[in-house]
Amino acid sequence: MNAPDIIVFLGRFHPLVVHLPIGFLLLAFLMWIYDHWKKTDTFNQAIAFSLLLGTVGAGAACVIGFMLSLSGGYADSALDWHMWAGIATTILSTWAYLSFTLSLSENRAKHIRWVSLTLMVMVLSATGHLGGNLTHGSDYLTEYAPIIGSRANQLPPPVTIQQAMLYDHIAKPIIQAKCISCHSDEKKKGGLSLVDGAAMRKGGDAGSIFAQPFGENELLRRIHLPESSDDVMPPKGKTQLTENERKLLAFWLKQEGGFGMTMDSVGNDSINHLAAVYLGLEKNSHGENNIAQLDSVPQHVIENLLAEGVVIRELVAGSNCYDVRVPSSLGHDKGAELLKKLEPLAQNIIWLHLSGLGLKNQELAPLGAMNNLVKLRLDNNDISDEGIKPIASLKRLEVLNLYGNALTDNCLTDLSSIENLKTVYVWETEITESQVGKTKIIR
Ligand code: HEC
Repeated sequence: MNAPDIIVFLGRFHPLVVHLPIGFLLLAFLMWIYDHWKKTDTFNQAIAFSLLLGTVGAGAACVIGFMLSLSGGYADSALDWHMWAGIATTILSTWAYLSFTLSLSENRAKHIRWVSLTLMVMVLSATGHLGGNLTHGSDYLTEYAPIIGSRANQLPPPVTIQQAMLYDHIAKPIIQAKCISCHSDEKKKGGLSLVDGAAMRKGGDAGSIFAQPFGENELLRRIHLPESSDDVMPPKGKTQLTENERKLLAFWLKQEGGFGMTMDSVGNDSINHLAAVYLGLEKNSHGENNIAQLDSVPQHVIENLLAEGVVIRELVAGSNCYDVRVPSSLGHDKGAELLKKLEPLAQNIIWLHLSGLGLKNQELAPLGAMNNLVKLRLDNNDISDEGIKPIASLKRLEVLNLYGNALTDNCLTDLSSIENLKTVYVWETEITESQVGKTKIIR
């Protein structure tokens, strides 16, 4: 469907606008319950006012929501239920409002209030839930629930690559992480849902994702486009597939979904290798990051760091490999303190950003324990040649950014002892060389 841009623009305010009326209507309901309980009518005026605001807000949310629906991509049935529930909420709240403002016999008013407010809250809850399903997927609420949640029913992770299931352990997690937010039963962008085999066979506007000839396959074409392209999937600006994920999805597609197929029965060495790397069961071809051997980090350690403002992202779900950033906005004192607190995570940090924290030489000591570090950003700190010492022992380090520190050629000996170091960025330092051993120095 092609709605004018301005309609879609306004429509996108729907999630913002809906929460206010929900609050007003619930408040009205709670005040009414309170009055009922205390057998008074002290809140009557406030209830009427709250209902008025709630009704106007709900009406606005309906109109804006309708605009959003014109942008397309939502499953019709799920959308219809949500829309009619929203309209019903508005009608019920209007009715409730009138019961507080029209002059009715006391008995009648009481009756109408009882029916309209109770129904209103029930339908309002349903509307909110259905709307949440449209946005997040119907699995969202229960995904992490014990026993009934889909997480609880997941297959256990494979121990060897031969046991791994092509769809369940490989294709599905990739799709869940990178596609499902827009291609579920509730939100079928391009008409395509990727929730299960049946939905995939049904396909989108271009037909079943398996039935299209390999050379003309729309899914395959889109995942291989450059990120700048208008048709690329995931769309530009979203986290793109890695090269490994692309190859695995392409292979999986060739097997027409390979549902129920183990990697053992696939019997394709190069695909098995990629899959093993994806699952963290094997080293990648450079022999580094043997991620399977990383021990997990207690959840509370990560949660405490997150609470203090550190940004932590797991590189591959379940790999225990982390990308960690201490934002420069936290300032020097906090930055130095947090660097020390990263200690329990030291072995698990693969990428680390410590830019612009004003860190000094002696504060860099904790880096020495981060044996698995591959990328390190230390730009715009207060480091001199002496500060490079703890880094010199990091065997896996490949990329180092030292831009904007008071460094000279004297630190090159230390840098040259980092075996795997490929690139060092030294803009705005006094380093003059452009190559040290195999390491490229970029100014
Ligand atoms: C942020 C939302 C978003 C994400 C994430 C996303 N897509 Fe899409 N996708 C869209 C939209 C919007 C369309 C339809 C517009 C268009 O044609 O570009 C679409 C269309 C498609 C189509 C065309 C369907 C057809 O039959 O014509 C395919 C195939 C597709 N996506 C595959 C994927 C895959 C595979 C992923 C994950 C790797 C993915 N998408 C992730 C939004 C998304």
